[in-house]
Amino acid sequence: MLIKRRSSHHPTEQDVTPEAVYQDRRLILKGLGLGAATLAFPTQAGVRDLFSADKPTLGATTRPLNIHAATRPEGVIITPEEKATTHNNFYELGTDKGDPARNAHYLKPEPWQLRVEGEVAKPFTLDVWDLINKSTLEERIYRLRCVEAWSMVLPWSGISLAELIRRAEPNSRAKFVAFETLYDPEQLPGQASRSLGGGIDYPYVEGLRIDEALNPLSFLAMGLYGKTLPAQNGAPIRLVVPWKYGFKSIKSIVSIRLVEERPPTTWNLLASNEYGFYANVNPQVDHPRWSQASERFIGEGGIFGAKRQPTLMFNGYADEVASLYQGMDLRKWY
Ligand code: MTE
Repeated sequence: MLIKRRSSHHPTEQDVTPEAVYQDRRLILKGLGLGAATLAFPTQAGVRDLFSADKPTLGATTRPLNIHAATRPEGVIITPEEKATTHNNFYELGTDKGDPARNAHYLKPEPWQLRVEGEVAKPFTLDVWDLINKSTLEERIYRLRCVEAWSMVLPWSGISLAELIRRAEPNSRAKFVAFETLYDPEQLPGQASRSLGGGIDYPYVEGLRIDEALNPLSFLAMGLYGKTLPAQNGAPIRLVVPWKYGFKSIKSIVSIRLVEERPPTTWNLLASNEYGFYANVNPQVDHPRWSQASERFIGEGGIFGAKRQPTLMFNGYADEVASLYQGMDLRKWY
């Protein structure tokens, strides 16, 4: 369930050597007719007002959580907190890796309500801070593998997604689960226009099959490194699906809807030939523009100084999840 102790699955200190290649997914936006000037949006004139440089660098405030701490697996390097909170993908706060931390102060994660509804007997609205303040959250140390071929190992705190879904009592029509990020351009300025937010139609949406959502690995994180989530990491509540590429792990969620049909998902809408609904980590199925056979692990070294290590099938969680895809052609269902 947590990171396994098999050493072949773990990044070790020896694995970390320089790697200069950086695959920039934003190239996709060129294919949508948005030029290079658009991509560099944090420095565009009109954007300076939204993302002004004199704001504090790390706007997010975090506080310690009550958690059942996970045992630190032997030989596993956990990505340093400073890296995990300054090298982010959260396009609503900017498309460069450092933008979400710089612009974190725009997002006001407190108070926060999360609606669980759709094909369920008992829809409900969750007061997220009530849950955080009254619970002892479980800590899980998971690998995160971004489709851009970098990876981290992160200590999340939260609850299993299944626990929340079961509380709503899904009916027999509930075949998929649809997730939605907050839509509020004042708090997430990248939503203000197509060019500012990287050409994405907001709100950011994601989805899982119901059996994937109920798998014990699927997690709703409300903390990182034993503290509440920083805004740039998806405060106050986000999904973590460790066997899938990171874009499935949608941030700052306000809605979880049980539905009958497969829901639309953001990156699939943007480029269905590059990003599938399933997005299972798979070293044998390359992205059309780069190989997925290996990844750069972001550990102690510089972000661009990390060594390539082999990508693991289902990101190392095959024992727990391979049965979900039995009989499926994973090249077709990427
Ligand atoms: N959720 C929203 N709402 N917006 C985003 O841009 N980026 C995704 C995912 N969740 C994203 C999102 C991608 S591409 C990745 S790799 C992970 O968040 C990154 O999570 P991290 O910044 O906490 O490492």
